[in-house]
Amino acid sequence: MNKSDIIRQLLAGRSREPGAQGAAYAPANIALCKYWGKRDEELNLPVTSSLSLSLGSLGAHTEVSACDGPDRVQLDGRELPPDSPFAKRLSAYLDLFRENHGFDVRTESSVPVAAGLASSASGFAALVLALNDLYGWELDRTALSILARLGSGSACRSIFQGFVEWHAGSRPDGMDSYAEPLQAEWPDLRLGLLELSTAEKAVGSRAGMKNTVETSALYSAWPEKVADDLLDLHTAIKERDFERLGRAAESNALSMHATMFSAWPPLCYWLPESVHAMRAIWRLRNDGLPLYFTMDAGPNLKLLFLDADRARVASHFPAMRVVESNERGMS
Ligand code: PMV
Repeated sequence: MNKSDIIRQLLAGRSREPGAQGAAYAPANIALCKYWGKRDEELNLPVTSSLSLSLGSLGAHTEVSACDGPDRVQLDGRELPPDSPFAKRLSAYLDLFRENHGFDVRTESSVPVAAGLASSASGFAALVLALNDLYGWELDRTALSILARLGSGSACRSIFQGFVEWHAGSRPDGMDSYAEPLQAEWPDLRLGLLELSTAEKAVGSRAGMKNTVETSALYSAWPEKVADDLLDLHTAIKERDFERLGRAAESNALSMHATMFSAWPPLCYWLPESVHAMRAIWRLRNDGLPLYFTMDAGPNLKLLFLDADRARVASHFPAMRVVESNERGMS
């Protein structure tokens, strides 16, 4: 089973003729329970389910149209060299849809690139929604989530706002592996982006996951850990139990990084500054401040706290950028 087979199935009976232009927006998302490890490399099928929070108005606006000649990819007004990794990934994805023409893709990202947020999730989700518009497919959200997953796993969650769960599914064709929004809101919940380094990472998440699944002795414990954390997160969100949410999210992120440390060659995305910030958070928590963090495949931290504690958290982390609840589209 490859990507083209899935796309043929999803687009059966739908137009292959692009209209004049398609445009769409998709938010970035931060996982509270991580996706780490694939059961199918080609279709981006995960070993476990995952749960995230979308970032409202922090995301990607994309316009796409068909053009003569090769693809042109613009990011924030700058044309990317065709051989840059992002342009190459987009073109390979667009190969799945094109018929003898190029695509002109223009993306404006409101995600602070410096905050180390993966741009691929919002980027691929916005591209899929823009293609849906360009071709007039009128696909439902489940099909759009599956299409986004084929571009980048975590992009399937960026089709929705708020809390979102990506169901791992078990089918070999992945038709049951898509994201769905939770019917839950939490207007006081805040997420703070703590930028510690903007350097390009040496190992991307795709290669990092593969190496971890193949070589880490701790990886076999990961699916059970995820199952426990997902249960905890569901209860915490339902009951608005912040300490429970924070503990599950932080412990999940640290466990994911533990699987990387125990891989070979070892993988460590942390910088001394990351550890310094973690220790400060643990100290503040011991002193009674309900503050937790999560981390992805990079050195930056995402802080979790309640609005009532915002001033105290900001006084310790003045460089933090807080995602507003209206930015999350949740209140
Ligand atoms: O979708 P990818 O290949 O960018 O992988 C994302 C992996 C993590 O960000 C580390 C975890 C997650 O669930 O977003």
